[in-house]
Amino acid sequence: MLLSFLLFLHVIFIIPPCGATVNSALLATLERVSGYAAAAYCRTNYRSGADLPATFPPNTFDQDGFCEIVHSFLNVNEHDTSGLIMLDHTNEAIIITFRGTISHTDWNTNLEGLQYDASDICGEGCIAHSGFLASWESVADNVKSNWTSVLQQYPQYDTIITGHSLGGTLAHICAASLKKMRPNATMSLYTYASPRVGNLIFANSINEGFGNNNHRVTHLNDPVPRLLGRLFGFDHTSPEYHITSPHIRKALSANKKTLAKPANLVVAADDILVLPGPENEAGSLRYSCTNIEMHDEYFIHIAACAVDSKTSLLSRFAIDICHILLLCCNSGLKFGTMWDPVSNGGHP
Ligand SMILES: *[C@@H]1O[C@H](CO)[C@@H](O)[C@H](O)[C@H]1NC(C)=O
Ligand SMILES: *[C@@H]1O[C@H](CO)[C@@H](O)[C@H](O)[C@H]1NC(C)=O
Repeated sequence: MLLSFLLFLHVIFIIPPCGATVNSALLATLERVSGYAAAAYCRTNYRSGADLPATFPPNTFDQDGFCEIVHSFLNVNEHDTSGLIMLDHTNEAIIITFRGTISHTDWNTNLEGLQYDASDICGEGCIAHSGFLASWESVADNVKSNWTSVLQQYPQYDTIITGHSLGGTLAHICAASLKKMRPNATMSLYTYASPRVGNLIFANSINEGFGNNNHRVTHLNDPVPRLLGRLFGFDHTSPEYHITSPHIRKALSANKKTLAKPANLVVAADDILVLPGPENEAGSLRYSCTNIEMHDEYFIHIAACAVDSKTSLLSRFAIDICHILLLCCNSGLKFGTMWDPVSNGGHP
């Protein structure tokens, strides 16, 4: 009787697995790292020179001034691969952060293709998206050598690999690659709004290599984490940190002019569900309708630095997604149900 009541409760409320919750320290880290991901969008960070302080979107968790850029790569090859290596001396961390979508060339990365042998990075049978992989390979040697030299200077620092959206896919591949190179280095991975990157073998190599240090963050019904679905044979890494807070949007739209951070701690620790994967129906998969406006809102307005171009990131992005699907834009379309076979009632 009690058991069935508990099962009943479990069905009504999504009870996160035992022990898997976000405490205030992790919440603060998830927020802080979202600022590193945001910094990769800021054009001002792509300069050469020594001891450059990194800039962040206005009021991004007060990080201005204490991150130092040690290396940057901007618009490398046809994929426009861009990112930064920074040092956060306050938090004793080496940050490797990748920029997300900014141009059409970026999304050609998505159009380009499907599966590609990634066994060099993650072992036999490992497959990743060929465009993401080519994008990573265009900067891999530079990132590895620059990271190695920074690590020699600061051997006690943790390495944090991050990125938003397309930047999240690069962060995943970078993470798998650096883990293979130095399995004993302390590193952690934080991705925001990342699409699926590769097959289950790829995802498992991240899960096993990073364990508790892997954080795949999704927000409400952002469609992008649903991209490159299982129809392609792709799977997500685990766990998913699913932000359920509807407050981010409200706070951000109230502050749109300044692109400011929302009132402190708009996302509370218990707004975040920690869901084991690879595909958890209680996370970003659970919505029948998706909303592209959720895509930039991860603790902060994460692509704030990209918004200065003629067309907004979101509208370009929406157009590109339509191109990907070879469908016309139609406000009635439910992106998620088209992209993900699971929402259409069945596992492949
Ligand atoms: C860092 O990468 C750049 C290319 O972007 C390269 O020229 C330089 O030699 C690298 N530095 C180190 C220390 O590996
Ligand atoms: C990593 O650490 C383990 C023991 O903790 C050791 O056996 C192994 O040789 C180390 N691997 C590398 C590549 O340093």
